[in-house]
Amino acid sequence: MRIVFIGPPGSGKGTQSERLVRYLGIPHLSTGEMLRQAQLEQSSAGVLAQGYMSGGQLVPDPIILTLVGERLEQPDCASGALFDGFPRTLGQAEALHDSLFSRGTPLDLVIELALDDEVCLQRMSQRERQDDRPEVMAQRLRSYWRQTRPLLDYYRRQGVLESIDASGTPDQVFERIKAVVDGRRGTLPPVGGVSS
Ligand code: AP5
Ligand code: MG
Repeated sequence: MRIVFIGPPGSGKGTQSERLVRYLGIPHLSTGEMLRQAQLEQSSAGVLAQGYMSGGQLVPDPIILTLVGERLEQPDCASGALFDGFPRTLGQAEALHDSLFSRGTPLDLVIELALDDEVCLQRMSQRERQDDRPEVMAQRLRSYWRQTRPLLDYYRRQGVLESIDASGTPDQVFERIKAVVDGRRGTLPPVGGVSS
């Protein structure tokens, strides 16, 4: 399956990704993790992304699309993928659509993790990531509302969007995600196509 997690910063995309990739046996593609790794390695993408990430702004699409494009070429992605925090702009969504369409493997499901800003802020402030400073968290939320949230309409129109309540414990949230994933899996043809 190919699944996207969309949700504000702190909504639990990373936490739930770990569980869902274990459950489905598919790779986890987190653009945030890829960028943090690129920064550690001081690659050109990492250096270019630094200023945007430390200010809570989205990194420009070409940098993101290069990272994801390279990752999708790897053989493990043939079995499916969980996209965590990607796409985040309409341009990224359209590029992902084109890339998956050309491989004949469209998205199966987009899951919105819906959570109030206050709870997101509370969860992020319990962590010590570099971009979890108050002014940066506020900017990350603004970026989400302005640039990423409009994607919900885009995916709703395509009939692939499911929204779940991301409040409660991680286990409670995962049960909701599992119900949606299992429901969608039941409607997909078996791997390898329908036999006659
Ligand atoms: P990214 O790394 O994707 O960060 P984010 O979207 O801001 O979200 P977080 O990772 O902080 O939160 P999350 O939803 O994963 O929640 P988590 O599980 O960690 O992006 C970072 C930056 O990279 C962006 O600002 C941007 O600059 C750039 N970037 C990345 N992708 C990009 C793209 N596609 N385009 C352009 N730029 C891009 O949980 C948060 C905390 O809450 C944790 O401490 C966790 O333990 C806790 N928690 C989780 N679930 C629960 C629960 N149910 N109850 C209580 N606590 C919980
Ligand atoms: Mg995350």
